[in-house]
Amino acid sequence: MIDLPALWRPPEYPGAPAEIERKLDVLTSRLIAVARNHRDARLASSLSVEDMLLTDIIFNDLGRARETLSVFTLETGLLHRETRELLEESAGRYPGLMTVYEPDREKVAAYVTANGVHAFYDSLELRHGCCALRKVEPLNRALQGADAWITGQRRQQASTRIALPLVEDDRARNIRKYNPLADWSEAEVWAAAKTRNVPVNTLYHKGYPSIGCEPCTIAVKAGEDIRSGRWWWEQSNRRECGLHVPPAPAD
Ligand code: ADX
Ligand code: SF4
Repeated sequence: MIDLPALWRPPEYPGAPAEIERKLDVLTSRLIAVARNHRDARLASSLSVEDMLLTDIIFNDLGRARETLSVFTLETGLLHRETRELLEESAGRYPGLMTVYEPDREKVAAYVTANGVHAFYDSLELRHGCCALRKVEPLNRALQGADAWITGQRRQQASTRIALPLVEDDRARNIRKYNPLADWSEAEVWAAAKTRNVPVNTLYHKGYPSIGCEPCTIAVKAGEDIRSGRWWWEQSNRRECGLHVPPAPAD
């Protein structure tokens, strides 16, 4: 019999539950401050456990402060069935909160006609071209008219995020960008999601610690880099899709 290597699993939190409650209080205050300082701030949700935690707090705990906050997701057209199921579940659980943005169909059709259905595997340029069409252009549309946006990024997620600030200036769009989970660990996020009974993508229980589009995401083994399953065929350890440019600290 062959012993298969163990897959990544959501981490257990080793600390005291009171510490998670304290972090949740701070997180809620951060979101309330964003809501009070902006007329239209939008959370970009990939439906990751981080984004689901933020969505749950925005929907349930912000009271009237919620009026200036909303949530959007970029449905690239190539998400896993499990992610689409969570999107449907979220629409029922958080009614009226989430807007879905899709890529421009004609541009996607032109890209596929010119390059093929799986062109993103062929070169870095074509992979970035696909992300530009399916993620970055819809992101730009999703942020039109907003005066701030919020992400679920954390410093521990990647070498590119090690210096991620809580607040930065998105200079390309001339708006503020908030990363309220920047200083959270993966185990803390999972503990908080569990405490609040937040719905999560079932792929996490199949070895996927970081979830993007289906053709570009695979499960990883226990102990591997949590982003090693994203664009797994590329060599660089700076693999990103272009949604996040290196941060500019807020003035
Ligand atoms: S990515 O750049 O590699 O794709 P990652 O999956 O780590 O990003 O997600 C980091 C943050 O980017 C998420 O917490 C979320 O704020 C935003 N994000 C990523 N993908 C999407 C998506 N499909 N829709 C909306 N926001 C997204
Ligand atoms: Fe295209 Fe893959 Fe980028 Fe998704 S992650 S937009 S499928 S290249």
